[in-house]
Amino acid sequence: MLILNSPEVTQETCVRWKIESQVALVPTMGCLHEGHLALVRRAKELALKVVVSIFVNPLQFGPNEDFKKYPRAFEEDCKKLESLGVDLLFYPTVKDLYPESFATKVSVGEIGHRLCGAFRPGHFDGVATVVLKLFEVTACDFAVFGEKDFQQLTVIQQLTRDFNLPVCVVPYPTVRAKDQVALSSRNNYLSPKEREAATQIPIAFKLAQEEVTQNPRQTVEELLKKISPLLTSQELKLQYLEITQNRELLATQPNDCIQSLILPHLFVAVYAGTTRLIDNLSLKGFIYEKA
Ligand code: PAJ
Repeated sequence: MLILNSPEVTQETCVRWKIESQVALVPTMGCLHEGHLALVRRAKELALKVVVSIFVNPLQFGPNEDFKKYPRAFEEDCKKLESLGVDLLFYPTVKDLYPESFATKVSVGEIGHRLCGAFRPGHFDGVATVVLKLFEVTACDFAVFGEKDFQQLTVIQQLTRDFNLPVCVVPYPTVRAKDQVALSSRNNYLSPKEREAATQIPIAFKLAQEEVTQNPRQTVEELLKKISPLLTSQELKLQYLEITQNRELLATQPNDCIQSLILPHLFVAVYAGTTRLIDNLSLKGFIYEKA
């Protein structure tokens, strides 16, 4: 596995590869877990050459967020990627990607201000800026993104359409632990008690599934009222719980009937102690017309 820091050398390498094969990219911030590795395996199915990037992107962290303490595990990450047969690990420094002369940033539209964006101003602009750079540096044909960060995936799909990027964005389902908690590098921060409390998220999702299956005619407000108590406890503080609709994750009204929504999707963000956890669930598959 090649390990390169330089965007220029990485670009030269990938452009050369592209004469004979396609390139699939998996962008990450490292501290890799099985969720990331599943994305890499998917990338291997898509293209002969697989590039993984590890870069903790300062542009997407707010001033009071965990940029400095974000978990880093470079040696272990390398071993994992090597054993999966990754061709190139792009591992730039902040200066490599954002030299002093750096000036241009992507501004994502309205979607960047809703859900997580409402609580993390500028976050999705930072994500879109680095992802655009990573697409250009690796000249990738495919890029795999996890549905764990469903709003991020939606933002990247929008970016790709808006800027006519020649990249096929490939979504990958959320990889979960045995107890159904979504894998996340930030789970490393959780105390045993907080980790236990995090299981309330999949429990709440199960209730949501059952509820919409049994009574798809209930309203958004009715459904959210049933779920939110599960996500509030001594260990958990609910930041937001929302149901969106459409591919663009548009807001719904409290009295909208779940059944009438196009692609209804449930989003949650909670704090377990000081750790922010996010998860989401498509409700589309659970709504059946009753005879
Ligand atoms: P990071 O949080 O490291 O995630 C990298 C990729 O792994 C993202 O596409 C994310 O959705 C996916 N992922 C994380 N946990 C997952 C899980 N449990 N199941 C499936 N996929 C999972 O997301 C980022 O980094 C950054 O914002 C990045 C896109 C790299 C831009 O800086």
